[in-house]
Amino acid sequence: MHPALSTPPFEGPQVELRVLGRIRAASNATYLAEADLPGRAPVRCVWKPVAGERPLWDFPDGTLAAREVAAYALSAAAGFDVVPTTRLVETAQGIGALQTWVEVDEDLDDLVDLAPVGRIPEGWFGVVDAVDAYGREVTLMHRDDPRLRRLALFDAVTNNSDRKRVHLLPSGGQVLGCDHGLCFHVEPKLRTVLWGWAGARLRDDEVVLLERTRAVAAEVLGGLLTPAETAEVVARTDAVLASGALPVPQDSWPPIPWPPL
Ligand SMILES: Nc1ncnc2c1ncn2[C@@H]1O[C@H](COP(=O)(O)OP(=O)(O)OP(=O)(O)O)[C@@H](O)[C@H]1O
Ligand SMILES: [Mg+2]
Repeated sequence: MHPALSTPPFEGPQVELRVLGRIRAASNATYLAEADLPGRAPVRCVWKPVAGERPLWDFPDGTLAAREVAAYALSAAAGFDVVPTTRLVETAQGIGALQTWVEVDEDLDDLVDLAPVGRIPEGWFGVVDAVDAYGREVTLMHRDDPRLRRLALFDAVTNNSDRKRVHLLPSGGQVLGCDHGLCFHVEPKLRTVLWGWAGARLRDDEVVLLERTRAVAAEVLGGLLTPAETAEVVARTDAVLASGALPVPQDSWPPIPWPPL
């Protein structure tokens, strides 16, 4: 198992945190930090204080950190194992989500990239055609990679509204995901670049993951989401199981995040 998925580096709710710097690309207040643990080497983390959450029109204020933690908790309990350890913690800087930092060791453009229209390489899925900033016609595409398919299934049950390329963390032979603040809305909001398996029949191991999701959802999400949000996780999972296939884009909602990379 990837070290970022195993034993939590910050067990208790109180953590001594040293902020190393702000992650500039992030739109919320997102920091690179080190958690100090008695008798252990400092652990590098991503720190998202609730007070730094930018208000959004569609998600209730002050709930993004709990959604990040809920995504981790469900990933771990159902056996997806795609989210680095994430905990709600209290620090001198207030309450927030603390997530283990993952050292990315593969190029992200080996997973999601653009190609000239009509030139999708073998082993890739085209997702959507677009025009780039220079007026060239391009296809957004992603690799036919089982590690991405696992994330696509996870996003279907969590209703992830923000699966773009920079939220993929390839490391140690696995692909983990980050930035799950926009998950678990009660309305359908799946927005992802990983549409290559839309309508594909579920495999047996995926059915097992979904059945486990169903079984653990209430217990692991209860303290983090509203009862309605938790019920929707079960309802979405049931819907995927009943259809026997990965979901297809809905007309009612823009299915691709922007920017996608
Ligand atoms: N656990 C992690 N390990 C390694 N890198 C990470 C981790 N979490 C986030 N990052 C990197 O930091 C970037 C910003 O983090 P994140 O997307 O979670 O912040 P955000 O404030 O929610 O961003 P935005 O709202 O702009 O999407 C990510 O795109 C990713 O490159
Ligand atoms: Mg982000």
